[in-house]
Amino acid sequence: MKTFKVAVLISGNGSNLQALIDNFKEEESIVDINCVISNKKDAFGLERAARAAIDNHFVDHTKFKNRETFDQELIQILDGYSPDLIVLAGFMRILSEVFVEKYLGKLINIHPSLLPKYPGLETHKKVIENKETRHGVTIHYVDKTLDGGPICAQSEIEVTTKDIDDLQEQIHKIEHKIYPEVVQQIAEGNIVFKDGKVIKK
Ligand code: GRF
Repeated sequence: MKTFKVAVLISGNGSNLQALIDNFKEEESIVDINCVISNKKDAFGLERAARAAIDNHFVDHTKFKNRETFDQELIQILDGYSPDLIVLAGFMRILSEVFVEKYLGKLINIHPSLLPKYPGLETHKKVIENKETRHGVTIHYVDKTLDGGPICAQSEIEVTTKDIDDLQEQIHKIEHKIYPEVVQQIAEGNIVFKDGKVIKK
């Protein structure tokens, strides 16, 4: 039965959103993705949500006078769905402290690097430039630090290409596998956020 409510925040293509939708589409799955929000109107992820009959919202961050008022609007929408978990999937906005504190322990992000290596943008480019032999993805709870919250899981690959697009594609593949797995583990209570740390049961 669908008892664990998940909201997904996106800004773009939404391939991770699609992986989540596909993974949890069965009625027997306990995860219910009941809300998708994008800050970009043309985000393809909104279309993906609509196709899956999931409520979807576009909130234009440029229409708000600052980060806090934009986040207040997000909070208002999200609270209408009582999310057990908010999943950032390519959401390209830094969230305010008010938002992060309100949902602390209920807010996760996927980052395309093996954190703490390569926080921030252009991770694939940096990995190639620095001739790294390993690369990967990290799923972490979001706290006040940028890409620095406690880690739920990581998945890694060997770097065998010098092409950024190739590497990005390989990283996407592992993202699409690990993100639904982690959401499932959180929904089942096997990954828990406690006192600022991740506990795995
Ligand atoms: C992913 O690579 C994710 O790690 C990063 O943004 C990208 C989103 O891709 N945070 P998509 O929109 O899910 O296709």
